[in-house]
Amino acid sequence: MKNIVVLVSGGGTNLQALIDAEKSGIIKNGKITCVISSKPDAYALTRARENNISTEVIRRADFESFSDYDKALTELLISKNADLVVLAGFMTILGHEVISHFENRIINIHPALIPSFCGEGFYGLRVHEAALRKGVKLSGATAHFVNEECDGGPIIIQKAVEVKYGDTPEVLQKRIMEQAEWKILPKAVSLFCEDKIKVINNIACISE
Ligand code: GRF
Repeated sequence: MKNIVVLVSGGGTNLQALIDAEKSGIIKNGKITCVISSKPDAYALTRARENNISTEVIRRADFESFSDYDKALTELLISKNADLVVLAGFMTILGHEVISHFENRIINIHPALIPSFCGEGFYGLRVHEAALRKGVKLSGATAHFVNEECDGGPIIIQKAVEVKYGDTPEVLQKRIMEQAEWKILPKAVSLFCEDKIKVINNIACISE
């Protein structure tokens, strides 16, 4: 059984999807053992407590330098015996130490079809605003491993979602969450926990 540690900053609907997926058996061979937030008042922490999952808070502002923060986060994850780290709406950039220590063991969910609308500055509603500005007819979500290139790690699963005429960024965000993010993130986590993902030359190969 693998220990899953989830990093959050906000509402935690993706965390909720993971909790529900664990309960219903969609996540095989994995258990969410800790939720770590970058913000003490994140609602995601309430979701964790309601489900008897232990919580921690680590704030970038409490560290003098980025490298001190990077080190502290790495040590915290090691102390939690994390086998897999999931970024579920975590709004703080990860540093070299944590990324290299957990190489191909950190999964992020991005609300677009990478390589579209991704990279630095593409987070939250900005992603959907950019998609609508371009007039794409399909957007979606991507679950991928995290490496040092922002949104550039090996892609595990993608799911396309229709963009409809008249969509606002908020409406598109909600559709992508419901139809894609909340489905593919638990699936990617399960594939990892079942040892079904192999990364070869920066490509994630899935054996089903
Ligand atoms: C999601 O849109 C996710 O794709 C992005 O941040 C948002 C988090 O939402 N990385 P929530 O906190 O899971 O509700």
